[in-house]
Amino acid sequence: MMDYLLTGVIAYLVGSIPSGLILGKLFWHTDLRKYGSHNIGATNAWRTLGKVPGIIVFLADSLKGQAGVLLGLSLVGTPLAAVIGGLLAIVGHSFSLFLRFHGGKGVATSLGVLTMLMGNVTLIVFVLWFTIVYMTRYVSLGSVVAGVITPILAALFAYPMEYIVFTVIAALLVIVRHRENIKRLMNGTENKI
Ligand code: G3P
Repeated sequence: MMDYLLTGVIAYLVGSIPSGLILGKLFWHTDLRKYGSHNIGATNAWRTLGKVPGIIVFLADSLKGQAGVLLGLSLVGTPLAAVIGGLLAIVGHSFSLFLRFHGGKGVATSLGVLTMLMGNVTLIVFVLWFTIVYMTRYVSLGSVVAGVITPILAALFAYPMEYIVFTVIAALLVIVRHRENIKRLMNGTENKI
């Protein structure tokens, strides 16, 4: 029990590290919260700073999700612990301890978790996300659709129940964090990439 708790706490702290904010300030002297969508994630880094910063922030954010899963696997070693580690990293990213419980939208960190748990689902979801973003230039639309599709794919591929429950919770988190984007998409005022 203590091992699970420890996994959750450390994963939350790792997830809470605001990578986009730190990298933006450190290398490009830019506070992402003041530009574009005001989000600290990879999309806003790409939009505000360019392609390379966007990719770097994406990798840093997704690494936090992978680290959460690895923590669960190394400290406890069960599918449940892997899921707890991954989920708490996403929660940390979205409601960061270091940003008064504000944060990113959890997409890159969720994808990082997904790469560790379900390779085939990751590939399909990424291709779907990329196609939507390429065709519409709306990253948020791709992210929300990807979030909704992931639990269906996890169930279709018959992954363990812990993994399926994880995808449902992660999808809900992603949708909640995108509620302003969803409103803007419906109004036709959403920011493009
Ligand atoms: O991953 C976040 C993306 O889906 C939306 O980002 O900056 O357009 O709100 P943004």
